[in-house]
Amino acid sequence: MRMVDIIEKKRDGQILTKEEIEFFIEGYTNGDTPDYQASSLAMAIFFQDMNEEERAALTMAMVNSGDVIDLSKINGIKVDKHSTGGVGDTTTLVLAPLVAAVGVPVAKMSGRGLGHTGGTIDKLESIDGFHVEISEADFIKLVNENQVAVIGQTGNLTPADKKLYALRDVTGTVNSIPLIASSIMSKKIAAGADAIVLDVKTGNGAFMKTLEDAEALAHAMVSIGNNVGRNTMAIISDMSQPLGRAIGNALELKEAIDTLNGQGPEDLTELVLTLGSQMVVLAERANTLEEARQLLNEAIENGSALDKFKTFLENQGGDASVVNLPELLPTAEYQIDYKAKSSGVVSELIANEIGVASMMLGAGRQTKDDDIDLSVGIVLNKKVGDKVNVGESLLTIHSNRENVDDVIKKLDESIEIKAQAKTPTLIHKIITE
Ligand code: URA
Ligand code: CA
Repeated sequence: MRMVDIIEKKRDGQILTKEEIEFFIEGYTNGDTPDYQASSLAMAIFFQDMNEEERAALTMAMVNSGDVIDLSKINGIKVDKHSTGGVGDTTTLVLAPLVAAVGVPVAKMSGRGLGHTGGTIDKLESIDGFHVEISEADFIKLVNENQVAVIGQTGNLTPADKKLYALRDVTGTVNSIPLIASSIMSKKIAAGADAIVLDVKTGNGAFMKTLEDAEALAHAMVSIGNNVGRNTMAIISDMSQPLGRAIGNALELKEAIDTLNGQGPEDLTELVLTLGSQMVVLAERANTLEEARQLLNEAIENGSALDKFKTFLENQGGDASVVNLPELLPTAEYQIDYKAKSSGVVSELIANEIGVASMMLGAGRQTKDDDIDLSVGIVLNKKVGDKVNVGESLLTIHSNRENVDDVIKKLDESIEIKAQAKTPTLIHKIITE
């Protein structure tokens, strides 16, 4: 087999065989195939697309390019959730203990994210002593005993994806549905998921800005999952404004605790219950979505979800007393109110721009080695569709520097108040095939 023949075949719009796709991925991973041929093929795929079989073959070739986590010693169906990312997305922190409380095993491997805030691990590390450096044996034992544990990235997962994603980033080939879908799905499958629930975000704070693009990506990923024997479904949810009220690491951790207490923001709570019910059904802990939702609501009301969270924190060295005493979390020195300049209804809180504002405060990292400030961020006091009076606080800036003029300037460009505005639809679609 020769790479040049495979490139020409795809360039001319033909369908690649599984063997040809495997040849490409193996050769690219071990260095036999140079970057220029890989980027040429990526560009051909960008223009000619791939059919369902090709996408499934590409995904599995990338899965098999490195280690695959074996979770078979964990009892039950391991359902993983993946979000395509957004601003102030606190769902994982709430979902993990919540679905664990109704018996769904959550064996989460997590990395340190780049972006507006840190990743799930950073948020959890706002708790004194909490750590994710545990052995694989302990990880499996903890999930079997308490249904939930989080481990830092171990092993060499999907090296082909790492290499190809970096190449796509500099060759104009990131924005291709078959390449994005196989990239995301390969990572979930290599991390050991039996079933996958996808939260595909749409809106200006999301990777997929339009509903149409988000739907295409969701269909592509669901089809790959189901083609390779992993029950997969997707929901498409709004990311035009930040999710919940808190954006920032410790601030989101507190928001997660409030939500597990039944006192969370309405949108975050609804999204968690929607995703959670799908996870509970896929894990075969309930027969219907209604039954699943009822179980989850009970776990919030009777305190078992919060208890699950406390045990999870303690198991991994964390001081669980923060659950009752959130003032133990890192707190920023200054709390500065951003006030409404007119009266009316909030019509726009541009998610992406508010994410950038929290990044300017130090909540996120641009490169892997950046330090982040766990205490800073933004708390929204109003959301899109809420009435506001002139002078009333729209949001609170949590900062460790006194002068936040640059942040306020950014926020001025991100917020709009009009005579009328509607609350945006939170869940646009549910996609099961
Ligand atoms: N996220 C990924 O993991 N892969 C892509 O290709 C795009 C976004
Ligand atoms: Ca939030």
